[in-house]
Amino acid sequence: MRRIHPDIEDDPDLVAAYAQPPGEWLRINMVASADGGAWLKGLSGGLSSEGDRRIFGILRGLSDVILAGAATVRTEGYGPARPRESWRALRAGRPPAPPVAVVTRRLDLDLGSPLFTETEPYARTIVITTESAPADRRAEAAKNADVIVAGEYRVDLTLAVGELRDRGLATILCEGGPRLNAQLAAAGLVDELCLTLSPLLIGGDAARILNGTASQTRLGLAQVLQEEGFLFCRYVREVSDELAD
Ligand SMILES: NC(=O)c1ccc[n+]([C@@H]2O[C@H](COP(=O)([O-])OP(=O)(O)OC[C@H]3O[C@@H](n4cnc5c(N)ncnc54)[C@H](OP(=O)(O)O)[C@@H]3O)[C@@H](O)[C@H]2O)c1
Repeated sequence: MRRIHPDIEDDPDLVAAYAQPPGEWLRINMVASADGGAWLKGLSGGLSSEGDRRIFGILRGLSDVILAGAATVRTEGYGPARPRESWRALRAGRPPAPPVAVVTRRLDLDLGSPLFTETEPYARTIVITTESAPADRRAEAAKNADVIVAGEYRVDLTLAVGELRDRGLATILCEGGPRLNAQLAAAGLVDELCLTLSPLLIGGDAARILNGTASQTRLGLAQVLQEEGFLFCRYVREVSDELAD
């Protein structure tokens, strides 16, 4: 791995390279093909690399909670984040692993899967849903997860993020998918985008990494790492220069 921006450094310390400011922070981590597609054959794995997976793990280790849309949880087969030896130092003073928080209206989740049945008490999965979600599914989910109700027909993401922070979960890592990302950006909640660019052209109809509601967030390019033709870009929101409509 080599840093090529803002300076040149071989094998940079990745934990330091992805350190985030103290306090509340929301970063999105995504991988895209060189032509902007967010999945290959329906999954992100075909776009990824060993370096991407290394950074993915470090970003998880640095976060207080991992946020994901229900379609991502379903298609990518999410389980709980397991503690890693390499996280020990960077999670000092915090639980050994972050919980996963799933945004869903329908609650069409496999509530018997390890994401719900194999969590540790310090990292119970969080289900973020709506008042209109099926009551029986909500009750079922509450057996093995913490349920947050934030909104009547759609999850209000500003409310949802506030609820997570009220639980002491200040640093939020959103792992997609594109439909959730677009809403977070439209609500002005995105502080950072970690984007892996994969050296692949894929065409087809894969969504871009934001899919849905239009919005504009001005970003500054804080860092670029490179490995085996993959670029690992870190963009941070430029708060002082918000774009007008
Ligand atoms: N390239 C990458 O890095 C990357 C990362 C993640 C995912 N992906 C890919 O992206 C695809 C999935 O992404 P996606 O954009 O289709 O879906 P998504 O954002 O993962 O999830 C959409 C679902 O989340 C729930 N949801 C989102 N916003 C909501 C709101 N405001 N209120 C209530 N529920 C809400 C709904 O769940 P219910 O249907 O349960 O109500 C909705 O169907 C997969 O193919 C995955 O492999 C790629």
